[in-house]
Amino acid sequence: MDYKSDVINKTAKTLRERLAKTEDKKSILRAPELGALYEHLKTLTAGKLRADFGKEINALKTELEKLVSESAMPAETREPIDVTAPFGINTPLNKRPGLLPAESGSKHPVMAELEKILDIFGRMGFSAVESPELDDDWHMFTSLNFPPDHPARADYDTFTTTEGLVAPAHTSTMQNRVLSAGREDLAAGRPIAVVIPGRVFRNEDLDSRHEHTFYQLEGVYVDRGVNAGNLIATLKAFLEEYFGQSLEVKTQPFYFPFTEPSFEFTLSCPFCGKAGCNICSQTGWIELLGCGMIHPNVLKMAKIDGGEYSGFAWGMGIDRLVMMKYGIEDVRHFESGNLKFLRQFA
Ligand code: DAH
Repeated sequence: MDYKSDVINKTAKTLRERLAKTEDKKSILRAPELGALYEHLKTLTAGKLRADFGKEINALKTELEKLVSESAMPAETREPIDVTAPFGINTPLNKRPGLLPAESGSKHPVMAELEKILDIFGRMGFSAVESPELDDDWHMFTSLNFPPDHPARADYDTFTTTEGLVAPAHTSTMQNRVLSAGREDLAAGRPIAVVIPGRVFRNEDLDSRHEHTFYQLEGVYVDRGVNAGNLIATLKAFLEEYFGQSLEVKTQPFYFPFTEPSFEFTLSCPFCGKAGCNICSQTGWIELLGCGMIHPNVLKMAKIDGGEYSGFAWGMGIDRLVMMKYGIEDVRHFESGNLKFLRQFA
């Protein structure tokens, strides 16, 4: 075997071995070793030697192309991937079309914590539905007692599409649907008890505490004779279970168009027991969420009689809760797709 064939054989061996190991099979066709062979070819003077060498390189390239195309399974035997994911957000997992295989990934920390959160609320009698990632102005604002042109609309920094749809800025966008669907429960003497996890969007200036995409957990509870004491007890019971310890809670008056009265809900810092630490900015307390008694107009828009029934609702930032639990300093890690960050939770 002459010297030139020897170089080609060695390169062929290296590339075949690399092809077997690499995930991105096609990258082998751009391997620098292959490029080097072509470069070398250019330096040869015209003649039989050069022609033979050229043929051998081409044969190698053809072989690699064949291996690359064989390594991809025939298209007809593979599960089709429909990137439009054509199923309703609340379709049970086993009824969803197969999307990408997940064996090599791991759960995102926000999703892993969400499962724990839903488990706790499930044990407290709450069912769960998801909120959509595209909704309309009526659900996002009007059904929640934001009159047209009300200044509070501006607080929500909402993204809209050119067609006039909204990327929901809060999971409250689901309240009217959940309340309307719950009328039958009320008529049958059962409460409406639903939590709504969802991805929400705001046109924010980004910093370590603000991200354009984040997660909320809405809660809605309606029955006869429900009062603010029930709201506070429910949230306290959840937080004590989640953090596995007794906590103190406080409420301060606040304003939301869809609750009356409205509160900002604060808990004693689960990390320092009120002594003051980095997590609670040395104050001993953490402002966690907005909540209140559902405004009679909101009940009315879902055709529920506010004279007969009353209820409470809250909206909690899930990212915030997970950041607190793990001492994560920057909310932007969550949407970064940074494997170094994600693998810490795998
Ligand atoms: N939707 C509010 C927000 O994102 C949070 C909220 C406050 C939700 C009070 C509620 C509530 O259900 O009753 O700022």
